[in-house]
Amino acid sequence: MKKAFIKSYGCQMNVYDSGRMADVVAEQGYAETAVADDADLVILNTCHIREKAAEKVYSELGRLRELKRERAEGGRETTIVVAGCVAQAEGREIIRRAPVVDAVVGPGSYHRLPDLIRDAQARRKGVDAEFDQVEKFASLPRPDAARIRARGVSAFVTVQEGCDKFCSFCVVPYTRGAELSRPASAILDEAQALLDGGIREITLIGQNVNAYHGEGPDGRTWSLAALIAAVAALSGVRRIRYTTSHPRDMSDDLLRAHAELPALMPYLHLPVQAGADRVLKAMNRRHTADEYRRLIDRIRAARPDIALSSDFIVGFPGETDAEFEDTLRLAAEIGFAASFSFKYSPRPGTPAADIAAQVPEPVMNERLQRLQAQLEADRQAFNRATVGRVLDVLIEKPGRHPGQLNGKTPYLQQVQVSGAVAQPGEVVAVRVTGTAPNSLFAEAVGNSAAPAALVAAA
Ligand code: 5AD
Ligand code: SF4
Repeated sequence: MKKAFIKSYGCQMNVYDSGRMADVVAEQGYAETAVADDADLVILNTCHIREKAAEKVYSELGRLRELKRERAEGGRETTIVVAGCVAQAEGREIIRRAPVVDAVVGPGSYHRLPDLIRDAQARRKGVDAEFDQVEKFASLPRPDAARIRARGVSAFVTVQEGCDKFCSFCVVPYTRGAELSRPASAILDEAQALLDGGIREITLIGQNVNAYHGEGPDGRTWSLAALIAAVAALSGVRRIRYTTSHPRDMSDDLLRAHAELPALMPYLHLPVQAGADRVLKAMNRRHTADEYRRLIDRIRAARPDIALSSDFIVGFPGETDAEFEDTLRLAAEIGFAASFSFKYSPRPGTPAADIAAQVPEPVMNERLQRLQAQLEADRQAFNRATVGRVLDVLIEKPGRHPGQLNGKTPYLQQVQVSGAVAQPGEVVAVRVTGTAPNSLFAEAVGNSAAPAALVAAA
């Protein structure tokens, strides 16, 4: 059987897309392999969000050139495809710079992969970078049950693609195109198939997921909250999450969903990017620092224990020391449970890349270090605050040591559970006993079948 090696860079959208590309090439007779050396087909699913991410693909292509040569000496052909956002942004330029590449396919064209691969194998190099998401979602094959099971207990489902926000630093509106919501019935069908295959946690994903406004089965336009409520009603679902949200699209019905739907996990990734109003305006974020603070207050009023996470950019063009201090202050006030922070990276074609006052690299380095030290301390503080609490853990796999199980708390903390007898996909009540840098330790509470509330009260 022919084999395909698919490597994902960047965000969860790419992880999901890689799964769907695996489904497409499976229909063409390719089994997935985790080893590039074995692969007759290599797909790099690339990321263009920062320069570093985009450059990774070229160093990987350098390695693949050697691999392709060695395999050719053994009489074996290798087809190399570049997919994802670098494919969309750079198109044919990739083949010019790296002639080892046989085909280039953007995120809107994955349903046409079989044609591209066939052409490539007939020595016709193709580039397909159309925005054709409607057709793509309509024609991508459904994953089969065995492959769903291999994915574990948690799966992503893309509900919308693209973004209309045009933050001035961001390539996404150009590489992923205009915002497009999938019809709710297609999403619900896909989610039900995953649940039937043993998945217990569904994460609804999109570049601007809470802007979701898809056609509902009742002919009306559904919000993300309506979609979440419908997913919560599917049989077999234990947990629902969604990411990534924009502060401007946190609607009242979504806040209500956090208050009312037990399956919707108390975790929200809500990037703020910066803490100074002038910078937020130059970023075209469409909200002030205080508007973000007030929004967080309302979210916490709806769901007091919610864990919040954010993305930050340091060194946006023109950012002053005082403006950076505003970011530190905002982050400290909110106390994020998790965060991602980056040095600003000018992206070709985005408005911010043309601003003259770029911040010098050493200044960015120093700011990033300070911010990350503070965010890490906040993350540890959040983790320590769960010690002693009784929490539900969704079991994912066996733990590091015999007798241990590995899973996640509602707050997306990785946890090593001792003393539980459970299968992946089951939810057990645990008492958190301690923290390690990247996980928690916990003991199953009494008999793991006992209701958590009763044991917690004991
Ligand atoms: N430079 C640095 N970070 C960026 N991000 C997006 N574009 C850039 C850029 N040009 C970050 C933002 C976004 C996350 C996915 O990546 O913080 O939320
Ligand atoms: Fe990029 Fe802003 Fe859209 Fe997020 S909301 S994908 S940062 S343009």
